[in-house]
Amino acid sequence: MDLPWNDPRSQKFVTTIGLITTEGTDGPNIMTCKWTHHISYNPGLIAISLGLKKATVKNIRNTKEFGINLCSIDQLVLSIIAGENSGSNYDKIGASKELGFEFYRANKIKALMVKGASLNIECKLFQEITFGDYIMFIGEAIDATHNPEKQPLVYHDGKYWSLEPIIKPKLQERESIQKVIEKHKRIKENQ
Ligand SMILES: Cc1cc2nc3c(=O)[nH]c(=O)nc-3n(C[C@H](O)[C@H](O)[C@H](O)COP(=O)(O)O)c2cc1C
Repeated sequence: MDLPWNDPRSQKFVTTIGLITTEGTDGPNIMTCKWTHHISYNPGLIAISLGLKKATVKNIRNTKEFGINLCSIDQLVLSIIAGENSGSNYDKIGASKELGFEFYRANKIKALMVKGASLNIECKLFQEITFGDYIMFIGEAIDATHNPEKQPLVYHDGKYWSLEPIIKPKLQERESIQKVIEKHKRIKENQ
């Protein structure tokens, strides 16, 4: 079966907002990518899934590198600029700068990086795999910095959200939960 983007079942997922920066023949570009996931610690690998026709796909194939910038809650407008227009037709970086957003030169790649993002990771292309109607680019982190004071923007149900912590159960409650878990321990024959 299909799970289209606007299906309420697809929209149940909760994601961060990746702002993918690349360099291309049309100039620097930025696109919004909710399918941005950390998939390995050692080495640090991040997967991004992109529709076949995105200008960003062409740029990554040409340069074999990209920047991942996790959008912070005060950068919602940047997500709209980067996610609702294509770099094939618009200089989204130029428009973003005019609207007050700032960029900086990456340390190890040619793409610009987003100033004030929650997390910035410079990646070199590790692998490209096509899954269904999307292409997954896996990037290996070669430089990474984070802004502890910047909360990541969240996306769910077609809307933007901010995070609120929920307190974990206290020690006493955890101990009683663990007692129940212990009652259900599997007994292995050779133990
Ligand atoms: C909130 C949001 C999330 C998005 N997530 C993705 C995504 O995960 N993958 C994707 O290919 N496009 C995603 N898009 C759409 C692209 O950002 C959009 O098609 C953009 O114009 C592509 O830019 P480009 O052609 O310059 O690469 C998203 C858009 C928005 C607004």
